[in-house]
Amino acid sequence: MKKREKKIRLAIVGCGGIAWGCHVPYYKRDARVEVVAVCDIVKGKAEAMRKERFPKAAVYADYREVMARKDVDAVDICTPNDLHSEIAVAALKAGKHVMCEKPDAVSPEKAEAMKAASEKSKKLLMVMRNNRFAGASQFARKYIEAGRMGEIYAGRCGWQRRRGIPGKGGWFTTKAKSGGGPLIDLGVHMIDLAVWLMGSPRPVAVSGNTFCKFANDDGASDSEHAKFGEVKADGIFDVEDLAMGLIRFDNGAVLQIEFSWASNIKAETRFVELRGTKAGMNWKDGNVEFYSEENGVLTDVAPAGVMPDHGHDGNLKNFVDVLCGVAEPSYTPRQGVDMIKILAALYASAKSGREVVIG
Ligand SMILES: NC(=O)c1ccc[n+]([C@@H]2O[C@H](COP(=O)([O-])OP(=O)(O)OC[C@H]3O[C@@H](n4cnc5c(N)ncnc54)[C@H](O)[C@@H]3O)[C@@H](O)[C@H]2O)c1
Repeated sequence: MKKREKKIRLAIVGCGGIAWGCHVPYYKRDARVEVVAVCDIVKGKAEAMRKERFPKAAVYADYREVMARKDVDAVDICTPNDLHSEIAVAALKAGKHVMCEKPDAVSPEKAEAMKAASEKSKKLLMVMRNNRFAGASQFARKYIEAGRMGEIYAGRCGWQRRRGIPGKGGWFTTKAKSGGGPLIDLGVHMIDLAVWLMGSPRPVAVSGNTFCKFANDDGASDSEHAKFGEVKADGIFDVEDLAMGLIRFDNGAVLQIEFSWASNIKAETRFVELRGTKAGMNWKDGNVEFYSEENGVLTDVAPAGVMPDHGHDGNLKNFVDVLCGVAEPSYTPRQGVDMIKILAALYASAKSGREVVIG
């Protein structure tokens, strides 16, 4: 992409929790971006965002009106999961660059449609992979790229919460809107981090199991994570609250996975553990350690001090940097399609009780 002189004129679609929490603060700080439109199906939410953060922005309730504006360069999608593909494809077809919240889409077909639209329009498509930009992840990636782990042949990853169901009864727990429970919500974070650190091998088969044991437990959504989405007292809960499984890759490597919104465990944890022939890696809650051996002595390597953890800013900066022609995208739509294929196959395997081959 060519170096850019003018500001990027950006529209935010979806003015809920993640937009307010991460995207808005970042764009307020990056002088290369001008937020010219805010859109939410609940117009009052877009109006509130304009009033408090972007007084010059136009307000919309229908995202199609945003796409019709010729002067919008890029769209940032922060809506519920089922709308990501539809809005991204509309934006790409209208010639806009797209930053989209995770997960990419709720089915492989919808993820493929986003990839195809990006290729056809030659516009940038990036989907949030904030955990790649955590300090520990960046350190680990460089360590691994230098060959210090040798061949990575096996791993485990997960994000387990003791209690942490987002918006119980709302869109998060309604399969038609979210595409699933913690596997799609949290799995996309940690499976992506593991696969990215493994060098993005292609998935070939999976075996999965899902459980739903906390849907009718009224106390179980009582956690800080309930702040995501909106709780709906008489709403739907037809997704899993725990998923476990195994992913096989084309290079022979395997990855065990475990994701829960609610489980009777000691405490919440996020982790990626990788085994390599020269070293092992343990990424845990934003910290990382490597375990190796030198001259017959077992050695541990870890960054001194605390690394910056949540990488949303770094991911949004990468999007803007790419548009400004000063960086390469950290994400490719092919990686996004592979991720959604893994998740869909894990759900299919949980349903059939058999291993599912990924085509
Ligand atoms: N990367 C992260 O760490 C992270 C964290 C939380 C959520 N997310 C993702 O961000 C997305 C939004 O999650 P959230 O927690 O902000 O949810 P939310 O429910 O708080 O916000 C979603 C917003 O989208 C709006 N919306 C719904 N349909 C719309 C439409 N057709 N057009 C325009 N706006 C529409 C809703 O009114 C709401 O304001 C989800 O895909 C979620 O997975 C990512």
